Amino acid sequence: MEENNKTHFGFEEVGLEEKQTKVKGVFDSVAENYDFMNDLMSFGLHRLWKKALLELAELPPHPSVLDIASGTADIPKLIIQSNQNTAVQVTDINGSMLELGRNRAIDENFISNCFFLTASGEELPYKDATFDLITVGFGLRNFTNKDKGIAEMLRCLKSNGVLLILEFSKPTNSFIRKAYDWYSFNILPKMGKFFANDEKSYQYLAESIRMHPDQESLKMHILAAGFSKCNFYNFQNGIVSIHKAIK
Ligand SMILES: C[S@@+](CC[C@H](N)C(=O)[O-])C[C@H]1O[C@@H](n2cnc3c(N)ncnc32)[C@H](O)[C@@H]1O
Repeated sequence: MEENNKTHFGFEEVGLEEKQTKVKGVFDSVAENYDFMNDLMSFGLHRLWKKALLELAELPPHPSVLDIASGTADIPKLIIQSNQNTAVQVTDINGSMLELGRNRAIDENFISNCFFLTASGEELPYKDATFDLITVGFGLRNFTNKDKGIAEMLRCLKSNGVLLILEFSKPTNSFIRKAYDWYSFNILPKMGKFFANDEKSYQYLAESIRMHPDQESLKMHILAAGFSKCNFYNFQNGIVSIHKAIK
């Protein structure tokens, strides 16, 4: 997915060493309005996609869970609400996003099950075979080196552990694909400008979605990393998909 020391930041080709700083800049810029814009742009559907992710999680009685790219901690909250015995490592490269997640965990009373850590999904600061479940929601497409991230996830899962990746993907119907493209490139940046005074970050969002591998390609990358099994589930005709892989 990344070659010759170059990768993509949206449609722009950038050096590998630049990408993370640029991604961090985007989420510094959107942090304050992140939850509001998420509801607005997805018409609230992101909540259903995250519930679907939870339904695919196979949690043992006392699960050890890692959520990568946690942002404002939507996914940790759902997991903890479904099983109060869960301990979740809540991680992100972006301190501003993580701070919002921490405040929310305090306000909404799930902080005692959380451990917050600023960390990259591409270099996980955990020992081999630590987790029963690893989740990544709308994070992987922002990674500099996705294969490295997937390899790290494999390393940190216990044997038979489950990886769930929720990400934008490719609509299977060509008419829906065209309509979605039009919405992404014409409406999303304007919404960003109007509601959050930030057109550029929402232009990046549209471009980063287009540059992300489609469902089948991502499945191939996951299996090539060494996972024993991987299936994906499409939502809204594949606008979003969840890949479920078993170590
Ligand atoms: C679109 S938000 C998703 C937040 C949350 N998971 C959700 O579903 O609402 C993407 C998050 O990924 C984080 N991120 C980007 N690259 C990352 C990386 N390499 N490692 C960890 N987090 C990363 C960003 O800082 C941002 O908070």
